[in-house]
Amino acid sequence: MADMTDTLFIVLAAGEGTRMRSATPKVLHPLAGRPMLACVLAACREAADADIAVVVGPDGDNVAECARKTAPGAQVFVQGERLGTAHAVLAARGAVRAEHKRVLVLFGDTPLITAATLAPLADAVTDGTAVAVLGFQAADPSGYGRLLTDGGELVAIREEKDATEAERAVTFCNSGVMGFAGASVLSLLETIGNDNAKGEYYLTDAVEIARERGLRTVALEGDETEVGGINDRVQLAAAERVCQQRLRHAAMAAGATLIDPETVHLSHDTQLGRDVVVEPNVVFAPGVTVEEGARIRAFSHLETAHVGAGAVIGPYARLRPGADIAEDVRIGNFVEIKNAEIGEGAKVNHLAYVGDAGVAAGANVGAGTITCNYDGERKHRTEIGANAFIGSNTALVAPVRIGAGAYVGSGSVITKDVPDGALAIARGRQTEVPGWVAKRGAGKDKGK
Ligand code: UD1
Ligand code: MG
Repeated sequence: MADMTDTLFIVLAAGEGTRMRSATPKVLHPLAGRPMLACVLAACREAADADIAVVVGPDGDNVAECARKTAPGAQVFVQGERLGTAHAVLAARGAVRAEHKRVLVLFGDTPLITAATLAPLADAVTDGTAVAVLGFQAADPSGYGRLLTDGGELVAIREEKDATEAERAVTFCNSGVMGFAGASVLSLLETIGNDNAKGEYYLTDAVEIARERGLRTVALEGDETEVGGINDRVQLAAAERVCQQRLRHAAMAAGATLIDPETVHLSHDTQLGRDVVVEPNVVFAPGVTVEEGARIRAFSHLETAHVGAGAVIGPYARLRPGADIAEDVRIGNFVEIKNAEIGEGAKVNHLAYVGDAGVAAGANVGAGTITCNYDGERKHRTEIGANAFIGSNTALVAPVRIGAGAYVGSGSVITKDVPDGALAIARGRQTEVPGWVAKRGAGKDKGK
């Protein structure tokens, strides 16, 4: 990590996002399970323990809430009218303090930026350099501001609408991420006017103003995949792909095996321990930790769950929020676990629902067992003691407790607690009528 103390990050998040065609503000659309604004703020926080300001639009309450949640110390400013990127940065002028050596401006809709890219940009803003811009070689430069350079120097940034034909031919483009020296940032930005094709206060005009004052301005080159802005859902999906690829690589680098990585969907906070094996077509929603050596079999879905070392989950299992699976547990096909602790070595192997429950170590929950946790108004707990055996197709009507080592006969509807070591059977008794079939046969003949 570069030394980036004395830094202020300003994240512009007052986006219109009309092309998303959504009731949700653009910067709150998620990537790998968290809003894109949170991705940007995470990159800032990873780069440095620095101050953060977020600029939101007039209807940006949800955006402000997201900012405060992801970056608790962040200051939020409202840009009342959308008058351009320089105007937006100035909305946060109250966050700029004398001790800030540099101010880095980022866009909330450019979520793939990484801490590793921010560090050299911050380093480029030195005493002699007033503006450092992160550029990239654009496969298709249309819509971007062009970086006009002379040798190693950045001479100007020309917005597409204001560019000459020759300038438009330039493919070195402005990512939007810009670093400013703290000493001159406010005076540069206050000098920017709006005499241009869009009638906006362009942040990018700071480059030419700095040069008129004899200050140095530079451009760094970054990777296009990191600086792509999201304007519509097709770009959102493309960014998700990049995010997923990064997460999969990180998981594998940390020692997990993903047998068919392209089919595994991870979240930004998925934790896979060493020698975890993930089979194809598994989805990790946010909040999942899997400990060493566990195996997540194909077509399973996990969310806010903990899987202990050596456990085997699935295929086709669903772990819902609050599923806490201890070491060496087996959770099999078509089993749903919600808000339940499953103790070490316990087995829930087939077609079961275990919700609001505690299953102690070594218990065996048979096929088709259901914890009836909801009475239509409230949820109730089921407790299953250590080494208890629950026969197939049992309904456990909560609140109810099955004692340690107890047995429950198949097909039971259990409504009362079962003591330790007892056998409980709660089902219609079987009766036989000897010779009934033959008698029925005789009766049938009579009728003919
Ligand atoms: C901007 C840059 C351009 C760069 C491109 C990269 C300027 C003038 N141009 O152009 O050089 O190549 O981004 O994607 O800076 N915003 C506000 N308030 C405003 C205006 C914008 O918060 O009044 C925010 C937007 O939400 C967005 C960002 O600033 O996150 C960029 O604004 P946008 O209008 O998309 O600028 P571009 O025309 O794409
Ligand atoms: Mg844009």
